[in-house]
Amino acid sequence: MPEPLATKMEVQNISVFYKDFKALNDISLPIYANRITAIIGPSGCGKSTLLRSLNRMNDLVPGHRLEGKVLLDGEDIYAPNVDVVDVRRRVGMVFQRPNPFPMSIYDNVAFGPRLYGIKSKAVLDEIVEKSLRGAALWDDVKDKLKQSGMALSGGQQQRLCIARAIAIEPEVLLMDEPASALDPVATLRIEELAIRLKENFTIVIVTHNMQQAARISDFTAFLMMNEERAGELVEFGDTSTLFTRPKDQRTEDYITGRFG
Ligand SMILES: Nc1ncnc2c1ncn2[C@@H]1O[C@H](COP(=O)(O)OP(=O)(O)OP(=O)(O)O)[C@@H](O)[C@H]1O
Ligand SMILES: [Mg+2]
Repeated sequence: MPEPLATKMEVQNISVFYKDFKALNDISLPIYANRITAIIGPSGCGKSTLLRSLNRMNDLVPGHRLEGKVLLDGEDIYAPNVDVVDVRRRVGMVFQRPNPFPMSIYDNVAFGPRLYGIKSKAVLDEIVEKSLRGAALWDDVKDKLKQSGMALSGGQQQRLCIARAIAIEPEVLLMDEPASALDPVATLRIEELAIRLKENFTIVIVTHNMQQAARISDFTAFLMMNEERAGELVEFGDTSTLFTRPKDQRTEDYITGRFG
């Protein structure tokens, strides 16, 4: 029996601006716990902007402004007294290009836990092994943990970045096209991994690849630019319905490859 649906995050009427430019217009959607939500849409429609709004990653961009609310377990992460570091600990992120730090495999994974004050070698050893196992990388690297993370293959590097992200036990994992720089075999491994990870995490994944969205996600959000080039949510729904019986003609046109 599948678990009943619980709402982990809720995007409520957000509009996002970069200086005077409105990149997202009035977007609302739920993010369900222990499910994979895919964000799809043509280039420039605001997928990465939406994803980065979920852990306040865009706070770092000068001129960025967000209207609306993003709830995490019912609390607005943009409320005035919120600790942004805590938000980013609870909502982790994996980027498009694998970006291991220039340090050993072990130190890459131990980086976050050390930052949060864990010093015991035994505890760190345990976290590193658990995270590398969780990222399906342990068997590849268990005999070379002191080697540089940069010396791994692209797909291994991306799994290392996933291990690094899950080492601090986030509740939500955001992935921005995590497989787009990888070959088909490495891509498949990342997809299998994402499906496995949703047992323990809530996952939001941006992808250009509609087959990938259809293969791995439970829910899909389709974004498109309006006349002012601001991204709008055209349709949100469970993935199989959205791909087989879309409600909106624009969704149908997009998924059948008529544009984008
Ligand atoms: N840091 C920034 N400063 C100014 N404008 C930005 C910034 N980041 C994104 N934008 C603009 O916001 C809009 C949405 O960008 P975003 O990167 O979210 O799109 P996307 O859907 O992820 O595109 P892609 O599929 O190409 O990755 C674009 O018009 C982009 O130029
Ligand atoms: Mg993007």
